[in-house]
Amino acid sequence: MNILVIGGGGREHAVIKTLKKSKDCGKIWCLPGNGGIAADAECYPVKATDLAGIVAFAKEKKPDFAVVTPDDPLCMGLVDRLEELGVPCFGPSKNAAVIEGSKVFSKELMKKYGIPTAESRVFTEADEALAYLRTCGYPAVVKADGLALGKGAVIVNSFGEAEVAVKDMMIDKIFGESGSRILVEEFLTGPEVSVLSFTDGNVVVPMVSSMDHKRARTGDEGPNTGGMGTVAPNPYYTEKIAEQCMREIFLPTIRAMKAEGRTFRGCLYFGLMLTPNGPKVIEYNCRFGDPETQVVLPLLESDLLKIMLACRNGTLAETEVKFSSGAACCVVLASDGYPQKYKTGYEITLPKRKKGEIFVAGARLEGGKLVTSGGRVLGCVSTAPTLEEAVKGAYALADTVRFGNAYKRADIGKRALAALGD
Ligand code: AMP
Ligand code: GLY
Repeated sequence: MNILVIGGGGREHAVIKTLKKSKDCGKIWCLPGNGGIAADAECYPVKATDLAGIVAFAKEKKPDFAVVTPDDPLCMGLVDRLEELGVPCFGPSKNAAVIEGSKVFSKELMKKYGIPTAESRVFTEADEALAYLRTCGYPAVVKADGLALGKGAVIVNSFGEAEVAVKDMMIDKIFGESGSRILVEEFLTGPEVSVLSFTDGNVVVPMVSSMDHKRARTGDEGPNTGGMGTVAPNPYYTEKIAEQCMREIFLPTIRAMKAEGRTFRGCLYFGLMLTPNGPKVIEYNCRFGDPETQVVLPLLESDLLKIMLACRNGTLAETEVKFSSGAACCVVLASDGYPQKYKTGYEITLPKRKKGEIFVAGARLEGGKLVTSGGRVLGCVSTAPTLEEAVKGAYALADTVRFGNAYKRADIGKRALAALGD
């Protein structure tokens, strides 16, 4: 089968490398891909948001299957466009991708179907939001309704901070139209867990759980990023909690989407907080998380292509989805300064022989050399029987990679290892 993959980050590199293990996998095209992905797929410079460009490419190359992983093209309806063309896709249609595309939609869905989440209020007028924020308790969370590159949630500790967040989102529109509606949410506490799942709209199969490290600097300091590293499994996510999540969150969500006429097929990501009052949904993503995918897929022992086809065709119940009982760690090497200002254009030296996997995110080829081109440059991933060995392995691998202006957090996995020791 010849496959078209849309996207160009570490997540897509992990997806492509895992698809290549399938004996049914033929040629892979990746739009736009990146300098590292080019070693594993034919890359063409068509942006993931250039729907017309992607459709034209698919008309010409006639892929047998397409995998759409970034949020923007999913929410813009790329899967609908490709399916109309006769290209079967892994990924939700536009009317299901709204579960990530609109936080107001997902909040209302959870309220209607009794799915546990933070209490919240919706505002379309800045004045009304501010009047409420004058009287509510702190900390609180102010969230833009739409997509905002993972930066649309602000934890505010006082009315002063809330005022700034509301002004940024609703008046200065730093996230564009994504901020024309906002939510003010109750502040929850507890460990966070990411659970990615495969679903065909009827059956939901959770993958191994993971833990992201969202803050930029060591010690959980600095601004929120897309993610500076991950470990899997997440030690806070016990079997008992997993069963509770299946009963109270995963199945009810899949059934709710179907009941709303928005059957979700693809990867549904549950961002959970294990609060003293039980697990609650912090957010849904309509796609694989990044860098979560970089630790989850290396632990998958079954055939990813078969699973993706089963999600598309409604046959997930009959398909094997098995994960290794081991652990994995991903340490992201970033350009220092990310997620704000940073310099790129530095040559990357990779080890000739390596133990583990390197998934490339922000790099391009220049005269046959790999040079940095983004904030998150690459993920160094190690799998091992224990989390401790996986963390050591990922850092050992990261030490063999060199480029100018490189930065990594020194404490990926530290919290998870401490929790295991408790
Ligand atoms: P989101 O964009 O909704 O995923 O939020 C980004 C991050 O903000 C989450 O990973 C949490 O760490 C934090 N966050 C979001 N909502 C809440 C909440 N209601 N209470 C506490 N922290 C939150
Ligand atoms: N790492 C979080 C996300 O992909 O949204």
